[in-house]
Amino acid sequence: MIAYPFRQGCRRFQYEAVARCLHAIIRSPKNRRFKRKEEMTYVVTEDCIKCKYMDCVEVCPVDCFYEGDNMLVIHPDECIDCGVCEPECPPEAIVPDSNGKAEKWLKMNAEFAIKWPNITRKGTPPPDADEHKGEADKFAKHFSPEPGRGE
Ligand code: SF4
Ligand code: F3S
Repeated sequence: MIAYPFRQGCRRFQYEAVARCLHAIIRSPKNRRFKRKEEMTYVVTEDCIKCKYMDCVEVCPVDCFYEGDNMLVIHPDECIDCGVCEPECPPEAIVPDSNGKAEKWLKMNAEFAIKWPNITRKGTPPPDADEHKGEADKFAKHFSPEPGRGE
């Protein structure tokens, strides 16, 4: 009988296991085809603040989102750079670190990803989320360093 590496009947576990295998293969120094100059990540920008729709957490295969009081961040060391969260975000708050806009948010994502709790399931967005979509200077106006509830 062939040994089956995944727990039967748990599709989410299977997705996560496949994602981790792909991550290991892609980042292997022996893999010349996929070798990259440096580790890459996606980051959450201030456009998330007070919107916090959380569609992004539902699609992340490695559960690397962390929840603050009014926004989420991505742990840069855990993100596998798959990009599936980017189109899911209504205010387009998620960008790759190759985007010039990402530079100032990368440090902030790294800082708060180790302070805030992990979140893996979409919760209820704030009732006034749509009113804050596209608002300018949200970090200066509304950022809260307090942690969210996590999962
Ligand atoms: Fe998760 Fe987005 Fe990173 Fe993919 S790009 S691992 S979905 S945070
Ligand atoms: Fe924020 Fe967009 Fe996710 S608003 S919570 S980054 S879906």
